[in-house]
Amino acid sequence: MPIAHSRSPLIHGFWLRRYGIKGHYVPIPVMPEHLAEVLRALPRMGFVGVNVTIPHKEAALTLADIVTDRAALIGAANTLIFRPDGKIHADNTDGYGFIANLRQHAPDWQPQAGPAAVIGAGGAARAVVASLLDGGVPELRITNRTKIRSEQIRSEFGARVVVYDWAQAGNMLEGAATVVNATSMGMEGKQPLRVPLDALSSGALVTDLVYTPLTTPFLAEAQQRGCHVVDGLGMLLHQAAPGFERWFGQRPEVDDDTRKAALA
Ligand code: ATR
Repeated sequence: MPIAHSRSPLIHGFWLRRYGIKGHYVPIPVMPEHLAEVLRALPRMGFVGVNVTIPHKEAALTLADIVTDRAALIGAANTLIFRPDGKIHADNTDGYGFIANLRQHAPDWQPQAGPAAVIGAGGAARAVVASLLDGGVPELRITNRTKIRSEQIRSEFGARVVVYDWAQAGNMLEGAATVVNATSMGMEGKQPLRVPLDALSSGALVTDLVYTPLTTPFLAEAQQRGCHVVDGLGMLLHQAAPGFERWFGQRPEVDDDTRKAALA
C-alpha cells in the first residue's frame, strides 16, 4: 500500500540518531489480505512493534491480543507493540498527539472553555472527538459530508455530541472555542475546505489535521480573522512519541529540530 510519502521514518530515524539507539524504523507496504501474516512474522524477525496506517488501522485492532480502551473506543489502532510473550498490544495515540500538539503550540488553550466544532467524521476525526471529550469539552459539534458517519459518532460517544448538517457547517462555528478540520480537504492536490468562516469568533483556537501544506487555506483564513491557529504537523510528531518510548525505552522530545527532520 502507498506509504512511500510517510514522514514517520524521518521522525523516528531522527530520534534514533539523537538518542544513539541502534534501531531502525522502516516503511513496509502491506496488502490488506497479508496483514495478519505480516504481523505474525515481524516479531520473529526482531521487530519490537509497528505503526499501522490507512488502510490497516481497523484491521490491526481485530488482530491484536490486547487493545487499550481508547483504541477500542476510536475503533482503530495506529501503534502496535510486540510483547516478549508473543502478544500484540494495540493502542491509538492519535488523540494524544492531537491534544499534545495544541498544548505545545497554544499553551493557554482549554478544552473546557467552550464548544468544540469538528469538521469530518472519518478515522482521524474519531480520535480527535475521543480526546476532546476526554479533555472535558462541554459540547462537541460535528459535521460531515456523509451525515451517517457523524450520527454514528454521536451514538457511540454520547450526549455531548451534537450533529450538524453539512450545509450548516458554517453555523456550527458560532460560539465555538475550538475548531478542527479533520477532513482531508485542503491537502495539496485536493480542493480546499469550503466552510464559511463568518461565524468564527477571533477568540477561537483553529487547527487542521492536514499538514501538507502546513498552512492550509482554512488555517490562512482563520488567521486572517484573528484566530490562534495551530498546524497539523505537531499532531503527527506527538502521536509518534508514545510508540517510540514503548519500543526503544526512551521518551523522545518533540521540538523544533524534530519538526525540521519531519519536513526534510
Ligand atoms: P481519515 O482516517 O484520514 O480520517 P477517512 O476515514 O477516509 O480518513 O476520512 C476522510 C474525511 O474527509 C471524511 O470526513 C470525509 O468525508 P466523508 O465521510 O463524507 O467521505 C472527508 N472528505 C474527504 N473528501 C471530501 C470532500 N471532497 N468533501 C467533503 N469531505 C470530504
